[in-house]
Amino acid sequence: MKEEIIKIKEEILDELKRVKESEALAKLETEYLGRKGKLTIFLRQITNLGDEEKQEIGCLANQIKKEMISKFKEVKGVISNVSKDVFVDVTLPGEKSTLGHLHPVTLVQHELEDLFKSMGFMILDGPELESDYYNFEALNIPEHHPARDMQDTFYIEEPGSESGPGEQKRVYAGKKSDMVMRTHTSPMQIRAMLKYGAPLRCVVPGRVFRNEATDAVHEHTLHQIEGLMIDENISITNLIAVLKEMLSGIFNQSITIRVRPGYFPFVEPGLEVDMQCMICGGEKCPSCKNSGWLEMLGSGMIHPNVLRAGGIDPDKYSGFAFGMGIDRLVMMKYKINDIRLFNSGDLRFLRQF
Ligand code: FA5
Repeated sequence: MKEEIIKIKEEILDELKRVKESEALAKLETEYLGRKGKLTIFLRQITNLGDEEKQEIGCLANQIKKEMISKFKEVKGVISNVSKDVFVDVTLPGEKSTLGHLHPVTLVQHELEDLFKSMGFMILDGPELESDYYNFEALNIPEHHPARDMQDTFYIEEPGSESGPGEQKRVYAGKKSDMVMRTHTSPMQIRAMLKYGAPLRCVVPGRVFRNEATDAVHEHTLHQIEGLMIDENISITNLIAVLKEMLSGIFNQSITIRVRPGYFPFVEPGLEVDMQCMICGGEKCPSCKNSGWLEMLGSGMIHPNVLRAGGIDPDKYSGFAFGMGIDRLVMMKYKINDIRLFNSGDLRFLRQF
């Protein structure tokens, strides 16, 4: 009988090696361990044996039954994992995970920051949700001033509580609105002056917002970098020198610019700088609106009213300020013909940087 039960055990183990599906496994289990199964019937016959043999064979048979039950369980586990597709073949080659990288606008912003740090400028950060006072009024743009229309503004209907010195509540289209999405980085001129006083050298990169229709060179959400230098005897020569240093540092090649008078209420005199379109080489294309030139920045000597709003004595100090569009700079640097690609989230575009 001993040989018989060992033979049954080997039969089971042999069959288990071949079984691949749960249905076949269940059938096999019934065949051996079910009520009329081979092993069950064998165990029933033990009662007919003599005492000595009963004990020996009974012990062995029970041990084999236990072993077989746990073997069936083990195979069941393997088969159900395979069918759930969680079986892991550790011999397959691994999948390399792809790393993200910085956006082209951020890359150039970092280059600009490094350049300005090397010229002794601080890098500052400012709020994107700004009070009307800092965005307009302190910059010599009082309410009803026509210059407010120069920048299409996103007004916030439910204003926050922030207020600047001398700030008043005002009403737009019947709605109380003290807060705006900043239309330029210039409000940081006042914040920096109030915090650090003079002399002062700082740049402020950041996002700004314009409520305007988009095209190849106009975005509603864009990046600017504001620059500010205040000290005794600062003149327009210092402004031109810093702008030259900045542009040659970014382009590393000769570029053609033109400087023309420009009006901004917070500077006097004001200058605007255009760059010859690097996409068409000045030959006129849709990206430069067929003019051969692209406006890059506004700048000028800080208006005495603005210095006063920043708590700086205009009789002692003078300074220059500029505000440049970083997105347009990146367009020129990498010959990108449409500004809207930057916010498109199109990975085919972004992966090139
Ligand atoms: C201003 O924003 C002034 N704050 C600049 C300034 C600062 C003047 C300090 C004097 C002293 P303007 O609106 O022209 O000015 O914008 C400055 C630059 O931002 C533009 O020359 C252009 O490069 C970029 N820019 C402005 N609007 C857009 C837009 N919708 N899309 C892309 N770039 C823009």
